[in-house]
Amino acid sequence: MSRHKCSHTFWIANILTLLALSSSQPVQSELKSSLRSQRHHRDVPSTNQPETTTATLLENDPCLSHYCPSGRDCKVREGVPICDCAKKCLPHRSICASDKVVYPSHCHMHSTACHNKRRLTQMNMNFCQKSVKNERDWIKEKLSEELRPKNDSSGLSAAGFSNVQSVLVLPSLNPGDLSNLLNEIEDHYYGRDECSMQEYEVMKDNLLLYNHAKLMSENQSKDYLLSMMFSHYDKNNDEHLEKYELDQVSSEDQDLVNVINLTSGCSLASMIEFDDTDKDNKLSINEFSVAMSKLYSVSVVSLDKALEVNQVSARLGDNVELHCAVTGSPIPPVLWRRHGQDLATLDQEDVKVYGDGSLYLTKVQLQHAGNYTCSATRNPHVVQTHVLTVHTLPEVRVMPKIQSKRPGEDAQMFCHVSGEPFPQVKWLKNDEELKIDEISKKYQIIGNGTSLKIRKIDFADTGAYMCQATNIGGLTRDISSLVVQDQPTPQSPTDEEHRFFAFHDWGISVYDPTTCRLHHMIQGTDIIPGTQEYVCGDHGTACSWGRAVSVSNRYIYASQPTLDRILVVSAVQMAVVDVVGTDKVPVELEKVSHLDQLWLLSWREGNDTGVKTIQVIRDATQKRKHHTVHPEPIDGQFDMVKELFLPYSFQEISHYTYKYGYATHTNQRGLYKLDLENLRYTRSVDLTPQNCVPEQIQFSALYGFVFMECREPVTRKPTGQLVLDYLTDAVISTAPTLFGKPYLSPDSRKLITFDRTPTGATLIVQEIRAHGLDFLFDVKTSLNISDITFYPSQTTHSYDLYASGQNKEDLLFVNLHTGKVEIITGVGIASSTSSWGNTPRPITTAGRFGAFLASPSNHALFIINGQSRTVNCEISAVAKPSHIVWITQKYH
Ligand SMILES: *[C@@H]1O[C@H](CO)[C@@H](O)[C@H](O)[C@H]1NC(C)=O
Ligand SMILES: *[C@@H]1O[C@H](CO)[C@@H](O)[C@H](O)[C@H]1NC(C)=O
Ligand SMILES: *[C@@H]1O[C@H](CO)[C@@H](O)[C@H](O)[C@H]1NC(C)=O
Ligand SMILES: *[C@@H]1O[C@H](CO)[C@@H](O)[C@H](O)[C@H]1NC(C)=O
Ligand SMILES: *[C@@H]1O[C@H](CO)[C@@H](O)[C@H](O)[C@H]1NC(C)=O
Ligand SMILES: *[C@@H]1O[C@H](CO)[C@@H](O)[C@H](O)[C@H]1NC(C)=O
Ligand SMILES: *[C@@H]1O[C@H](CO)[C@@H](O)[C@H](O)[C@H]1NC(C)=O
Repeated sequence: MSRHKCSHTFWIANILTLLALSSSQPVQSELKSSLRSQRHHRDVPSTNQPETTTATLLENDPCLSHYCPSGRDCKVREGVPICDCAKKCLPHRSICASDKVVYPSHCHMHSTACHNKRRLTQMNMNFCQKSVKNERDWIKEKLSEELRPKNDSSGLSAAGFSNVQSVLVLPSLNPGDLSNLLNEIEDHYYGRDECSMQEYEVMKDNLLLYNHAKLMSENQSKDYLLSMMFSHYDKNNDEHLEKYELDQVSSEDQDLVNVINLTSGCSLASMIEFDDTDKDNKLSINEFSVAMSKLYSVSVVSLDKALEVNQVSARLGDNVELHCAVTGSPIPPVLWRRHGQDLATLDQEDVKVYGDGSLYLTKVQLQHAGNYTCSATRNPHVVQTHVLTVHTLPEVRVMPKIQSKRPGEDAQMFCHVSGEPFPQVKWLKNDEELKIDEISKKYQIIGNGTSLKIRKIDFADTGAYMCQATNIGGLTRDISSLVVQDQPTPQSPTDEEHRFFAFHDWGISVYDPTTCRLHHMIQGTDIIPGTQEYVCGDHGTACSWGRAVSVSNRYIYASQPTLDRILVVSAVQMAVVDVVGTDKVPVELEKVSHLDQLWLLSWREGNDTGVKTIQVIRDATQKRKHHTVHPEPIDGQFDMVKELFLPYSFQEISHYTYKYGYATHTNQRGLYKLDLENLRYTRSVDLTPQNCVPEQIQFSALYGFVFMECREPVTRKPTGQLVLDYLTDAVISTAPTLFGKPYLSPDSRKLITFDRTPTGATLIVQEIRAHGLDFLFDVKTSLNISDITFYPSQTTHSYDLYASGQNKEDLLFVNLHTGKVEIITGVGIASSTSSWGNTPRPITTAGRFGAFLASPSNHALFIINGQSRTVNCEISAVAKPSHIVWITQKYH
């Protein structure tokens, strides 16, 4: 409900704004004289002597020193200035008055009131739009008439709320109705409750803080501030503040009204009620100062304008200490915020607010980048913003490391660069800049240094080609050697060997993707060494795999939901080396590489409908007997969990560490934040206002964004996406109409939303920027997309996308830089069934720089060369392959 407080004219434009510009005495007095001249804009006897000084004018026209309220003009009668009803008003801003008439200005309203000798007050515009329709309105109308002062000599005398008492005797209204009506009238007409002493003190406090924030740019005394305020409020310069002056100030400045919180029942004019010690119904400067000086609790704060925005740049891993430059006397307690969240209440080791008002960030990560604000606890209006950017040393990787070519051939080498901010990339040969010659076109550089092509090589082209990346964090190089010789030595296109483990109904098969040869097979009927148990079960029992993940290319962990255990397979020995018992029906497995953990979610039932338990395997890459531990439960309950969301390990910036993950509970609109290292819950995040049961979560290393797909509880109707701040869990933005599952590129630069449509799918491609997401393009396809993976781009330092289809023998390739789409056909169809929530048609990449992708179809494995976008081979006669795990062995 709008409670309008004051009915007086607004005819001097935004004085406070003007005053805010003035920070020194001379300017202020200039302003005062300009205010004075504005104030007397009404019927001044035509002064055709522009040079006439103010002093002489005053002598000639007593009206110049006599103030009249809005709607009245000063007239001289028998040498005495009096206020008469205004004859002329200028339209200013339409207002609705209590007689349900819309007037072109306050002046018009007051002038009408003056002529009719009736009090009129400004109302909410709605009031004029309603007509008197029913009895209730009529009663209100009557009541309002009762409330009008009978004797309106000034037109401005306070319609004291005490008058209401007399209305209580009105007949034929039941008391409930009456009090409701009175409340409404009170709200409409006076907008005020009782102003208690306490509320009054708070109001004055706010008033002072507000004016300080608005008027003071430098270190100035409180006395000066008070004299500024006083002279600003003293509209008629009579050295006293009267009620109408104070009311006028409020009516002119909506910000002020909001700030001093008049809803409490206090108004500026309450000052006369409380602090008019000599009871003359006005405040002298003395009374005003005494009133304001009582506020011992207020520390008037200030901030050097030059420090309002403080740019801070830190290196990944640095400790950062931020000092708040908002000062005062006494030194005010300081509040630090990020996305509006009070950081002192965060209770996180890496973000600490100290008693001296500084903020300490330990070992900053990219997620810490962003804005931090500080202000005095009692004064939200003086705010310093610290803009923290975190930079990393560039990472550079060339492919191949070495190649050997014949004279006359072309050579090409690739470079993949990452870093924040994104580095400048250039190629050098033997430490010297390449001589790019436009005529011979010997060298061709593609996509900001992503690739270097050397045409028609000869022996002189033998050398060390360096890809060099530079940003504020430093310089990094990697070398690709070219050897030109008549008899080239064969080289692998990469310096790594990749092999993959396919998990299928009859066991685990290990293949080489280049030749598509089988290396080895672990049969489901094999006995696990050192035990009496079978890998899957006795003859005739098909294997059932939940998930499979590799750790450090050393071990593969695979969950066996029907056997309540996890198998640990050695990547080198290609044999089962450990069995880890788990809670019932272990399914989901995720690794947290930097903590060497494996997190496991057990379903406890044969379907995805019940509550689940979380377990953790520590030291996952260590050669030892492993076991599971439960994280500390929430409220003593282990088994409430629905989903577990951990930061994706496939991210580029390798030093990057995440401290937290999230868990959700069935049908709960919110998250539980997990401290990964200490295996405990830290706090909960309420997403009820967003109606969000998180369905899928992606963690962006850059800027610490958490992207979330939401659904309604129970019905599971999509409710759009949210962006959270990883550090504070504050909701940064919502996209209620963006439906679908988010996928994040490994460099944290692109967010892809996959939305299933009745005819196929839509992929929405957005770019991740410091300020949030920018829409790039979308791709509509009739392919019923089953799975999505990212593949290093050959023309940019970022990634492209491959998607597998469910209903067709097609793969979709999307160049995420250009939006160009290609279809790769003949890749077999998806298996008709999939279990344990697995996608029926997975597609996986061979690590970050492997050339191949693998996609298991119904009864075959398809190996795709991601660079040429062709099928490399089809490995048939594999029974329902469900998972592919790639292992990379470096041989340099
Ligand atoms: C109206 O006010 C005048 C002067 O302010 C006073 O003399 C007169 O008695 C008042 N009339 C009523 C009805 O209150
Ligand atoms: C401002 O601060 C300085 C020193 O900090 C002090 O000497 C001076 O009195 C203060 N007041 C004004 C109005 O400059
Ligand atoms: C305004 O005052 C009321 C009553 O004292 C209080 O409940 C409310 O929280 C205040 N609002 C603000 C924004 O300070
Ligand atoms: C090359 O870098 C510029 C500026 O950083 C960027 O705008 C452009 O998109 C990049 N081109 C490619 C192909 O990545
Ligand atoms: C899930 O499985 C449990 C036991 O395995 C069974 O009682 C329950 O009915 C199943 N729920 C659904 C929806 O299939
Ligand atoms: C796409 O696949 C999903 C999951 O298997 C299925 O529910 C949906 O009906 C399919 N949509 C189309 C258009 O074939
Ligand atoms: C951070 O603060 C700066 C300076 O006030 C502002 O320009 C920028 O938009 C802010 N960034 C975000 C993400 O809010």
